Amino acid sequence: MSLVLQENLSLKPYNTFGVDVKARLFAEAHDDVQVREALALAADRSLPLLVIGGGSNLLLTRDVEALVLRMASRGIRLLADDGEKVVLEAEAGEPWHPLVLWTLEQGLGGLENLSLIPGTVGAAPMQNIGAYGVELKDVFAGLTALDRQTGELREFGLEDCQFAYRDSLFKREAGRWLILRVRFNLSRAAQLHLDYGPVRQRLRDEGIETPTPKDVSRAVCAIRSEKLPDPMELGNAGSFFKNPLVSGEQAERLKAAHPDLVAYPQGDGLVKLAAGWLIERAGWKGFRDGDAGVHRLQALVLVNYGAATGSQLHALAQRIRADIVAKFGVELEMEPNLI
Ligand code: EPU
Repeated sequence: MSLVLQENLSLKPYNTFGVDVKARLFAEAHDDVQVREALALAADRSLPLLVIGGGSNLLLTRDVEALVLRMASRGIRLLADDGEKVVLEAEAGEPWHPLVLWTLEQGLGGLENLSLIPGTVGAAPMQNIGAYGVELKDVFAGLTALDRQTGELREFGLEDCQFAYRDSLFKREAGRWLILRVRFNLSRAAQLHLDYGPVRQRLRDEGIETPTPKDVSRAVCAIRSEKLPDPMELGNAGSFFKNPLVSGEQAERLKAAHPDLVAYPQGDGLVKLAAGWLIERAGWKGFRDGDAGVHRLQALVLVNYGAATGSQLHALAQRIRADIVAKFGVELEMEPNLI
């Protein structure tokens, strides 16, 4: 067996919240063979297998009685190139943002709005990562996953993945599919997505009239760095809650009571509300209880000032949720996976 096992290893370096819990067993998979070894080993020892990528969408509330497998497979390759359109494939363990930068260096557009998102390639389809008007599904060409129930490889096209806002088949059938590599549709003549106001504004402020994908990436990085804390400096998992969908009537009622409510009609009668606005308006922005807190610049982000436990962060999240129900009648849903 080529898998290197570690026992009772602290997962602090492997989750961006920086929560200090232990994994009963830990290993890194560098290729498909090691993934299969890990599956066999977990079955052999009657341990669950918890697969992680960058650990940027995880809230660990206690020691993990499982084999924690970190996907560490690397490799980026062009599968097709007609001079303009390109299909690129990346292994699950490739870190996301360096991949985005690499594609931009090759003159390939498509991923620029998704710059600086933490995490790995394999985790990106799980929650259909999205930012600044683009979601993974918009550039998705396909993926290869291992069916943990049968051990067979399966190819997924766009329709098969059931992508939705921060959601996918892989998230809904948690524990069944292990994503091995993902393919993207990129282009040398990329259509830019500048519908998100702050990105357009930033480019205008810099006097850039005909932006390139690299310019868009730089603008997105600048906006993200201003608002979102760097996990290397302050533990966090990005947006902790999803922006909630409410009925048109409920949005109208809230708007009447709060004229500055931030709301985006979805075209299907439903309205998406900015959870960050609700949480800030409820008074939580900058709140701190021990080492668990709400970021002072972005109320959607919970932060670990150092020694917060997963349970303390979860308890804070529950307090916020209850308060948002009490004040606005709106249910907030957590974004990170709770372990
Ligand atoms: N707002 C507030 N107070 C806050 C935060 C936001 O009033 O503390 C208001 C803003 O003023 C703005 C609105 O809420 O009018 C939306 O804020 P922003 O544009 O910053 O986006 P968001 O809704 O907070 C979402 C995603 C982010 C993504 C950005 C940009 C979710 C849950 N979050 O945040 O994704 O980067 O849009 O597209 O959909 C992530 O998922 O981890 C993430 C960071």
